[in-house]
Amino acid sequence: MSDINSIQSKIPLSIEWKEGELFLLDQTLLPHEQVMEKQETVEQVWHSIKILKVRGAPAIGIAAAYGLCVAVKDQIKLPPDQFRSLVVEKAAYLDSARPTAVNLSWAMQRMLKLLSLDVQNSKDLYEALVQEAEKIHEEDKIICRGIGEQGAGLITDGMGIMTHCNAGALATSILGTATSLMYVAHDQNKKFKVFANETRPLFQGARLTAWELGKGGIDVTLITDSMAAHMMATGNIDMVVVGTDRVVANGDVANKIGTLGVAILAKHFGIPFYVACPSSTIDMDTKNGNDIPIEERDGAEITTIMGQKIAEAGTVTRSPAFDVTPNELVSGIITESQIIRAPYDEGLREFFKGK
Ligand code: MRU
Repeated sequence: MSDINSIQSKIPLSIEWKEGELFLLDQTLLPHEQVMEKQETVEQVWHSIKILKVRGAPAIGIAAAYGLCVAVKDQIKLPPDQFRSLVVEKAAYLDSARPTAVNLSWAMQRMLKLLSLDVQNSKDLYEALVQEAEKIHEEDKIICRGIGEQGAGLITDGMGIMTHCNAGALATSILGTATSLMYVAHDQNKKFKVFANETRPLFQGARLTAWELGKGGIDVTLITDSMAAHMMATGNIDMVVVGTDRVVANGDVANKIGTLGVAILAKHFGIPFYVACPSSTIDMDTKNGNDIPIEERDGAEITTIMGQKIAEAGTVTRSPAFDVTPNELVSGIITESQIIRAPYDEGLREFFKGK
């Protein structure tokens, strides 16, 4: 694992928990500034998730788990029952920051399970919460590495790979999901090119993916979203791999706005379209993609580019942050332990059997 470690060491960590304090890399400042911001209150953590200082499905789950610890750490003198009620209240608050990535509510549910522990005092419960958040964080590292190992075999010499948004180390604990395949394949000395779509409106592709892949030593080329079709039509792309915020029971996949268009294009040009994710992103309680809550963001994010107004004041906007790719456009879902293929309802059910 030494070379992969050296690849990851060139990319900053998005989340750190040090001596009982939470630090988040402010991704809104990347790639120009690298600032680790200490999170003093639960309101600050909520806001960091809301405005995408920390973003990407696994990362917001991990950040919220630690955020819950931040929320209650000064309340350990409360009697356990009152402390438990506070934990429930703060978990619901953190869960309300963003609706689409299921990892956020998954992490909160996992933390809330600890409330059934039989403890003498609230301090013990607080310590159990911290341990659970650390466990979620550590597990994600192993999972991301596993996704890379499962998926790297799909990458062969000479390939052109398109990705959309940032499903990278910055969006997770380490290595990323879609990018983990790339880092592992690079570590195996495979030669390939990655095309990163810039990802309007918030430019996660340009600001984050192109930057982190470059730091990780990957041959990466930045293109605008509108160039995707041309790149496919001219034979530059052999595979698409993206991350996801939620996979549902029939295999429909929510990801950053624009992913659906890329998937339709890939189908048209006969290019395989893969989705990489940890099992914590799979929501078996939601039947199909129509039931995935899609976050609508402030129109100012599309009438303004990096602080510069580009549309007339008062212009009417819509800004859905995610779209849903129907399962029939998905060639496979790359998880930490296997690549699941169609029929997805059966494959996903089988995947969770006994877990
Ligand atoms: O709005 P964002 O930047 O949080 O959107 C992130 C994505 O769409 C990612 O592709 C997804 O969360 C997977 S991250 C491994």
